Amino acid sequence: MKILMVCLGNICRSPLAHGILKQKVKDKQLNWIVESAGTGDWHIGEAPDRRAISIAKKYGVDISGQRARHFQPAFFEEYDLIFVMDRQNFADVCAQAANKADLEKVQLFLADDIVPDPYFDDNLFDPVFQMIDKRCMEVIETMSKKKE
Ligand code: 4NP
Repeated sequence: MKILMVCLGNICRSPLAHGILKQKVKDKQLNWIVESAGTGDWHIGEAPDRRAISIAKKYGVDISGQRARHFQPAFFEEYDLIFVMDRQNFADVCAQAANKADLEKVQLFLADDIVPDPYFDDNLFDPVFQMIDKRCMEVIETMSKKKE
């Protein structure tokens, strides 16, 4: 199973989702691969935002080694599941799909809600971490029953 986490910049939300799920996958000894990317290209090659690194560190997750990547249409082939953080990410990723099979891989990470963008609001990093962490736990529980 290869999972891609996607947000706009790939420096705040998707690096958190990437790092948190990756840690849980390791703890559960699942052989899933978890990575991330952004629909925007401004931050390619950069480490996550220092506020994202810091909130993750507070809860025992190290995301400092991640480097931002730009979402590519070729990623539809590479990943089984593409989780997007908000509806704009959903629209931007779906616009690059080549067929129905690609579209079926794209899901809102929170299913029926969005992960708010904390980039312009320092106070959102903690609640964003919590909502991503809770959802990663659910993803592990529901999907590890179905597929290794
Ligand atoms: P992210 O947050 O999509 O959660 O990584 C953002 C990061 C950068 C920008 C916007 C959102 N930006 O405009 O540069």
